[in-house]
Amino acid sequence: MSADESHVTMMYDPYIVPFRAERPACRSVSGYQTRTRIGVGSFGEVWSAVHLRSGALVAIKFEIAKESEPSAGRQALPYEHAIYRMLRGGIGIPRVHWFGREEMTNIMVLDVLGPTLEELRFFCRGRLTLKTVLMLADQLISIIEFIHSRGIVIRDVKPENMAMGLKRSSHIVHIFDFGMARSYKTATGEHIPFQDDLRPIGAPRYINQASFLGHELGRKDDLESLGFVLVWLYTGSLPWKGAKAQSIPAKLQLIGEMKATERLPDICKDCPDEFLTYLQYCRGLGFADKPDYDMLRGLFRGIMERESWKYDSVFDWCPDSDSPAGTLMPDRFVFF
Ligand SMILES: Nc1ncnc2c1ncn2[C@@H]1O[C@H](COP(=O)(O)OP(=O)(O)OP(=O)(O)O)[C@@H](O)[C@H]1O
Ligand SMILES: [Mg+2]
Repeated sequence: MSADESHVTMMYDPYIVPFRAERPACRSVSGYQTRTRIGVGSFGEVWSAVHLRSGALVAIKFEIAKESEPSAGRQALPYEHAIYRMLRGGIGIPRVHWFGREEMTNIMVLDVLGPTLEELRFFCRGRLTLKTVLMLADQLISIIEFIHSRGIVIRDVKPENMAMGLKRSSHIVHIFDFGMARSYKTATGEHIPFQDDLRPIGAPRYINQASFLGHELGRKDDLESLGFVLVWLYTGSLPWKGAKAQSIPAKLQLIGEMKATERLPDICKDCPDEFLTYLQYCRGLGFADKPDYDMLRGLFRGIMERESWKYDSVFDWCPDSDSPAGTLMPDRFVFF
């Protein structure tokens, strides 16, 4: 194999050794050959796989249904699939190729993605440059706007659920994992009513104060979590990182207090002022208010203009980036 061919193989499948067509389809599922485990979630596992007929590389999310739960209503994957159907066609949303059930196993086949933003932050030695964060912020606000436009709130906005695409979409960030998402509209199209007696959901590091207080979450809460994600990616730290308390409820309470409105300036102290403006705007929105996505994108675009940076998709981990970071990228992801 020439050097050029081996490069093609690498671009084709960042996850594992070249696929050999003659290998027996011993782990075949619905016409796909599973290959490497690429993720473990709270519900089951995610594997890379190849479509046996076309050779297309995909990701397969599996959920083993319990014997006691024969109906799809109590399982996570049919629910997530229903959300994906509502989000079909959106830029930055992985496409679902197939969904079904085999032998008590729910199976969702979807576009395979590249490294998550949390992995990339790690590969870039703990933090991303401002330009990279601003280019991501612009895309992420637009993806969240699209998801909201389909009547869905994500309720689990975190960098582990955001990943760059592969090959031709390697410059596009994606949001995936809609296991916690829900519709914020009723069957008649009105906004769901406010409640304040719910269990907090989402990752404590990024959920906002409303979730800690047991509030029903709305569009503003996804955007507020995104604000914390952006601070985290840019600075590699948040004041509640490593917070200690005697019990989990006490720790959640402590983190909740650290996210109080008057503490926002402290959270954003190492960021340009626009990060604070962004978070203060989200915090000021009412439960059912429609956020001004243009204004929020405009805040970050303003910094790009001030710095004379271009939206050129040259992220820190790209070979032509002038950032010193990115050198910790493992081989399986060296395809940009
Ligand atoms: N389409 C995909 N392409 C590549 N990797 C993926 C894909 N979907 C999921 N993964 C990997 O698998 C991991 C778990 O998937 P996912 O977040 O969907 O599961 P979950 O159980 O809902 O997650 P959580 O741990 O957030 O509860 C992800 O963090 C990611 O690393
Ligand atoms: Mg996840």
